[in-house]
Amino acid sequence: MNILAIESSCDETSASVIANGHILSNVIATQLIHEQYGGVVPELASRAHQQHILPVVERSLADANLPKNELSAIAFTRGPGLLGSLLVGASFAKALALGLNIPLIEVNHMQAHVLAHFIEAPRPAFPFLCLTVSGGHTQIVRVDGPLDMTVMGQTLDDAVGEAFDKSAKLLGLPYPGGPLIDRYAKEGNPLAFRFPMSEMANLDFSFSGIKTAIMYFLRDNTKTNPEFIAQHLADICASIQHTLVQMLLTKLKRAARETGIREIAIAGGVSANSGLRASLTQLGQEQGWNVYIPRFEYCTDNAAMIAMAAQFKYEQGEFTAQTVSPMPRMSM
Ligand code: KG4
Ligand code: ZN
Repeated sequence: MNILAIESSCDETSASVIANGHILSNVIATQLIHEQYGGVVPELASRAHQQHILPVVERSLADANLPKNELSAIAFTRGPGLLGSLLVGASFAKALALGLNIPLIEVNHMQAHVLAHFIEAPRPAFPFLCLTVSGGHTQIVRVDGPLDMTVMGQTLDDAVGEAFDKSAKLLGLPYPGGPLIDRYAKEGNPLAFRFPMSEMANLDFSFSGIKTAIMYFLRDNTKTNPEFIAQHLADICASIQHTLVQMLLTKLKRAARETGIREIAIAGGVSANSGLRASLTQLGQEQGWNVYIPRFEYCTDNAAMIAMAAQFKYEQGEFTAQTVSPMPRMSM
């Protein structure tokens, strides 16, 4: 069984081939055009997907050494994501499936981030908890089976990736700023500055307050010292990162306590953050958890995770009609 999977939900055009559960290729074209605008511009994203999709798909088939006529199904990200971007991947997948007369499989992008853990060992055992953290989502998900997921808590406003990116923007760093905060934080003191952590009673998150707190903190300090940011960049980044990571881990600890589940995973772009990876590893040792952290290339958006999810759907006979349209807001 050979499946070609296409991911185009945001600003990465990616294609991957999976053969009987083994990833044979994972080609990712990142759109750099957005950097100069300080965020993803949807119209530019869909145009870039149109330019990248054919070469990316061809490269992934070539890397997998697989001719098109040996494909068993075509998978694509149906949502959540940017409508224009999703449309490019969905239309391409539909046309290819129709042309090759093979089934079509729709994949939920957030489910796929979780299922990235099944690409290679060690694989979590069911049930497990997954903290899914990206530029658009922040969720604690209970996973009872490959396609059986329940959201236990989520952000009520900004996603944590957004909090990283917006904080970076306030510091004058280019988009996407999350990885840059991570890089500068390595040289800084995480306890140099304190930012308020929002207190939500349940397993939900809120990240808009900390963004505002950082804005006032920078405004007040640059008023008396215009060089404040440049002089303290590493300490500021380390402190912001520490605060965001603690907010995530507090809730994860609570979810583990409430469910009694000790299989704990993280997924999504922010799971590439070295502070989060280190703190989770340490917390896992303290709590006696089995912790699962994906390889870097499977943290941020990629089609291998879409292919993995599609493999599970193929096995369960879950196919999609040609009349399907993308869903920018799609729940788990
Ligand atoms: O999952 P993803 O690639 O795309 C979405 O589905 O949103 O996540 C992108 C997000 C961005 O906000 C980016 O800044 C953040 O993940 N990110 C990081 C790091 N690498 C990516 N945030 C903090 N530290 C990182 N190392
Ligand atoms: Zn994503």
